[in-house]
This record gives sequence, structure tokens and C-alpha cells, in this order.
Amino acid sequence: MARIVYVNGQYRPYAKALIHAEDRGFQFADAIYEVIEVLGGKLVDATRHLVRLERSLSEIKIASPMGRAALLHVIGEVIRRNRVRHGVVYLQVSRGEGRRDFALPDAAVAPTLVILARSQPPAKMAAQAATGIAVKTMPDIRWGRSDIKTVMLLPACLAKDAAKHDGAKEAWFIDATGHITEGASSNAWIVTDAGVLVTRQLDHRILGGVTRATALDVAAKAQMKVEERAFTRAEALAAREAFVTSATNTVMPVVAIDGQMIGAGTPGPLTLRLRSQFHQTAEISAS
Ligand code: PDD
Repeated sequence: MARIVYVNGQYRPYAKALIHAEDRGFQFADAIYEVIEVLGGKLVDATRHLVRLERSLSEIKIASPMGRAALLHVIGEVIRRNRVRHGVVYLQVSRGEGRRDFALPDAAVAPTLVILARSQPPAKMAAQAATGIAVKTMPDIRWGRSDIKTVMLLPACLAKDAAKHDGAKEAWFIDATGHITEGASSNAWIVTDAGVLVTRQLDHRILGGVTRATALDVAAKAQMKVEERAFTRAEALAAREAFVTSATNTVMPVVAIDGQMIGAGTPGPLTLRLRSQFHQTAEISAS
């Protein structure tokens, strides 16, 4: 079965799907994206993802390509046409095409919308969660508006590549004051010796993760103690547990940071509780 991708109003096999050579997403990374988990053919936390998409678009003044209901319809169609049961939807909106010019084009230029869906066996993630992952810290060299989900991901790609060379799955960025901001493609969390969950407060330095928001809901329901504040690398190394959250990982235990074991070097109990209860609290909706 050919894989199908939606590009600007058409559902096409990959080989026949085309983007203009002077698309601003390609030339300037002038584009916003979202990644949404698909579970049993349904969307996880679609409302939060679409609200964030609208916010990101509005922060860089790109018009929404279509309303929320229409977008959900197209997403559902892409999931069905690719027969995805478990996996992810990737959605990207660029400012559209036009002769290369740094100044933004006329508002009449239509945005480019691309939506694809990909299967990802849940067993693979479950196996990873059973052992946990290692992370590597490095300086946060990204721009000052990491709260906007742009496709300007080169610092994240380079950081993940450096992490991979050290046998780590994720990179944690550190700001100029020595505090962890977030992961290259996830939010960073620790559990202190006193059993308090800590994750950085929302500001311009981090992406307001949808999984982070739902994990906070799970923690509140379970009456876990939470502090939304910045934490240092030293605090992370001394933590009892650590984990990351993202749409592709939900809640993923971190068992080593820069080669040093966290806690007992195995996934922590609070982390695993958040993971196991996550989908009971998340919004699961037909698309
Ligand atoms: N990344 N921080 C960054 C920098 C991210 O790129 C992501 C998500 C997150 C977590 O956000 P959410 O919980 O809404 O997925 C935090 C996606 C999964 C990606 O780029 O593939």
C-alpha cells in the first residue's frame, strides 16, 4: 500500500507529493509544526495540540490554513488512508511560497499545509520505557522563543546527534545560568529526594509541551507534589528519578545523565505511575 501524504488540498502518494522549491519553510524555516500521538486510530490530546498550533501560528503571524474542524477531518483522513492504528501524525504549516525575500510576503500568500501519519509499534516504546533512556546535557544555543513550535530545529538535531554518539537518546539543554531548559524534543523533569516533581516553569525558553500539561493533570489527580521551576544539572544528577515527556514518548524514564546513574539507575516509581496513568487522563478523540 502506497503511503499517502496531504499537501495543500490533495492526498497523494509520497513520490507524487510536491512542495514548491521556494517555499519559505524550506528556505527560511518559516514554518510551524505539531506532532500528535495516535492511539488505536484515535488522537491523543488533539485539542491541546491544535490550540498550541493556533498560538504558534499567531505568534509568527501566519494565518491558520483552515478551521479546527476541517483540520481534524483532514488529519483523520490521513490516518485512515495510511491505516495507522498506533503512531503519530506530523503536521506542518509554512508561510507559503514566493521569490526569496527576508521581508514577510503579502498576507494573501496561502500557507503550505502538509500532514502525514506514521505507524509506530507501541511495543518498541514500552520496551524502551522498561529500561529507561540516557540523556546528555549541552548548552542551549537556540533562539529566545522556544515556546513557538517552529521547524527551526538545527540546534536540536545537532544536540541529538551528539547525544547519540555518547549512547544517549535525548539531549538536555542548559541555559546561561546553569539551569536545564528542556530536552531537544521533550520537556525535562526530575523527582527530588523529598519526592517532589520538578519541571521548568513555562516561559519563552521552553515549549509548552502538551504531554507536560497532561502529565501535570495526572500528577494533580494522584495528589503528587509538583514545583514548576528551573533546576540545575547538579540538582538533576542528585535526583531520585528523572524523565522526559513528549507526544512520541508520553512519559519516558531517564536513568542516566552525562553517564551518571540517576537514583538506582532504573525507571522510578513515580515516573512509571505517571506513564501508566497517562492515557486515562489525556483527551482521546475520534478524528
Ligand atoms: N517534540 N520541547 C521540545 C523542544 C519539543 O520539540 C517537544 C516535542 C516537546 C514536548 O512537547 P509535546 O509534549 O507537546 O510533544 C518539548 C516533538 C514530539 C517532535 O519534535 O517530534
